[in-house]
Amino acid sequence: MSLLSVDRLSTHYPAAAGTVRAVDDVSLEILEGETVALVGESGCGKSTLGKSLMRLVDPTSGRVTFKGRDVAAMSGKELQAIRRHIQMIFQDPFASLNPRQTIRAILTAPLAVHGIGDRKSRDAIAASMIAHVGLPSDSLDRYPHEFSGGQRQRIGIARALILQPELVICDEPVSALDLSIQAQILNLLVEMKTELSLSYLFISHDLSVVRYFADRVLVMYLGRIVESAPTARLWSDAKHPYTRALLAAVPDPSRRKQAAPITGDLPSPHNPPSGCRFHTRCPLATDICRSDDPAYRQMGSGHTVACHHAQ
Ligand SMILES: Nc1ncnc2c1ncn2[C@@H]1O[C@H](COP(=O)(O)OP(=O)(O)O)[C@@H](O)[C@H]1O
Ligand code: SF4
Ligand SMILES: [Mg+2]
Repeated sequence: MSLLSVDRLSTHYPAAAGTVRAVDDVSLEILEGETVALVGESGCGKSTLGKSLMRLVDPTSGRVTFKGRDVAAMSGKELQAIRRHIQMIFQDPFASLNPRQTIRAILTAPLAVHGIGDRKSRDAIAASMIAHVGLPSDSLDRYPHEFSGGQRQRIGIARALILQPELVICDEPVSALDLSIQAQILNLLVEMKTELSLSYLFISHDLSVVRYFADRVLVMYLGRIVESAPTARLWSDAKHPYTRALLAAVPDPSRRKQAAPITGDLPSPHNPPSGCRFHTRCPLATDICRSDDPAYRQMGSGHTVACHHAQ
């Protein structure tokens, strides 16, 4: 069953130097219970896409449908209500936690906003959530600065999950953490998914993080999805030169054919290259790539790619 469907979504930011086309004509679907990864290098529009899905930023055009309801058209109360079902976990848990609030206040605020329970029952829910995410039981009366980076991300996860959402957008939830802590937080997210029947949109600039975790991967380049495939298939048979270059940057002795890692900078989203946006960095680019935007082509079950020369 489809949980979230995105149809030709664009989110542009007005700027002095010209419009930033951060997300440009993106369509995707997330099924109930699925973990969909969204990968691509920094600046390609991943966070903007994630925020657009729950209207933390307003899309410029297109449709976002959550369980059959048009999120882009919602306002006021309706939008507030939908945010109970779609939550976001951010990269930097410290920046997203109010330093002057206790963990109790941070965790009970969303419950109060949505009119759930009385003070006593909200406290009980917060205490149970703290235990769920593996924080010490005396955490509730402490402040964010008293916790380590990994613990703060556990608080961020507790806050996102306390309303029992259905879809959680995880925006690089482990990128700011030490390598040794990353696996613990990923494991917690996997446990929570099973326990609470969640679906995830898991954003990462690092393909290796999503490999053992995601059902499907969407590869984003300069505001567009350029390839989409089940995770194992993407690993074994990536078609888009950009995906191949990303994979080449991931050390993996089991892969024989190695493409060259990507070089050069991401072009400006103010004025994306003509034709295929990747042509300025693509080793396979020909004339048609410079003039024509490649359409999506089906490359097998659940595998689509936007490239003139994909085989
Ligand atoms: N609030 C904003 N105003 C103007 N430009 C923005 C804003 N937020 C992001 N951008 C620009 O939009 C593009 C995509 O950014 P972002 O969605 O943060 O990408 P990612 O999460 O993949 O790093 C970048 O060029 C970034 O500079
Ligand atoms: S369409 Fe052309 S430039 Fe774009 S990825 Fe394919 S080969 Fe490279
Ligand atoms: Mg980001």
